[in-house]
Amino acid sequence: MSRLKDGVYGTNSVFIPIFAADNIFLMDTVVSGIRSTGNLHLGNYFGALKNFLRMQDENNCYFFVADYHSLTTHPHPDDIHSNIRQVLAEYLAAGIDPEKATVYVQSDVPEIAELYLLLNMNAYVGELERTTSFKEKIRQHPDNINAGLLTYPVLMAADIIIHKAHKVPVGKDQEQHLEMTRRFARRFNTMYGVEYFPEPDAYNFGRQLIKIPGLDGSGKMGKSEGNGIFLADSPSEIRKKVLRAVTDSGPEKPGSEPSEAVKNLFTIMGVVSEPSTVEYFREKHASCEIRYGDMKKQLAEDIIKVTEPIRVRINEIINDPVYLGRVVAMGAEKARASAAATIREVRQIIGYRPF
Ligand code: TYM
Repeated sequence: MSRLKDGVYGTNSVFIPIFAADNIFLMDTVVSGIRSTGNLHLGNYFGALKNFLRMQDENNCYFFVADYHSLTTHPHPDDIHSNIRQVLAEYLAAGIDPEKATVYVQSDVPEIAELYLLLNMNAYVGELERTTSFKEKIRQHPDNINAGLLTYPVLMAADIIIHKAHKVPVGKDQEQHLEMTRRFARRFNTMYGVEYFPEPDAYNFGRQLIKIPGLDGSGKMGKSEGNGIFLADSPSEIRKKVLRAVTDSGPEKPGSEPSEAVKNLFTIMGVVSEPSTVEYFREKHASCEIRYGDMKKQLAEDIIKVTEPIRVRINEIINDPVYLGRVVAMGAEKARASAAATIREVRQIIGYRPF
């Protein structure tokens, strides 16, 4: 779909102008967010945040704190603000520049909630019930199967298409949600006979989406799985965690495949260490000479090289409420301007008219 159209016609013959007011319309629009449910870990960093940084110079970027999404698990009111502040400080500490990207808190943009409501009318319970993340959540928390969980992918779609995004930098676990976003965008376009919403792609610079595993030998690194290394962890915490990581009793014969747990360590090494370091330990594994203690020591130091500068900045920024306040106010204003324009057009397409 062309992004430079002067406008589109709805089935109801409403012409919706799209103004190319400045070169923002020549750039791709990028949208992504992270839930405010705790400190960010290496999975969030390598799956999402690092790509936010790489994209902010050349795209029209919107990066937000997904605080509405955190409500599905009913956080205590005393924690809401500090959780938002933490993610915000971590974004900025990692290098997100609020002068380049629009950095905002989701709940500061009520237009997202309106689009969520409108999209919910065309989202079917059957497809929502079949979503993998929903099935997982109801298995983990059978006592809290709320409608917010069921319609989580619709809220995500609203987050993304409210700014008519083209690219969404996310980790592998969000792939299905992005497919659903594309479907909801397409369904809206088809239903009203417009080419209005672009169908956004989950994005990792043309490569497979990333999944950073945990240190416990199975599954992905998560905020609540107890298997994570956080950007805010001190070097000594990181050393302790890595040294405790699950491995095995060593390769039995030359050239044998590493076990799942050891593969996970190699995966993490693959994103934090020099290729020559990874190669060195792969060869040691292949020749049965590997000492997991040495590998873990190296891995811990290479992780610290990535996280330590960020941790220092997190501690500075989190104690600067004036700066954080300025960033969210500026972000809210820019995000609302973009979201309000979309909602105005969406309401027209749906058929709302002024009296
Ligand atoms: P959340 O908060 O669980 O995770 C934020 C981002 O981190 C990525 N991620 C990982 N990547 C690789 N390996 C891992 N182990 C790992 N764990 C997490 C996630 O893929 C994600 O990119 N629903 C989203 C938040 C959201 C959103 C959006 C994202 C709400 N609206 C709109 C993009 C666009 C979530 O729960 O992410």
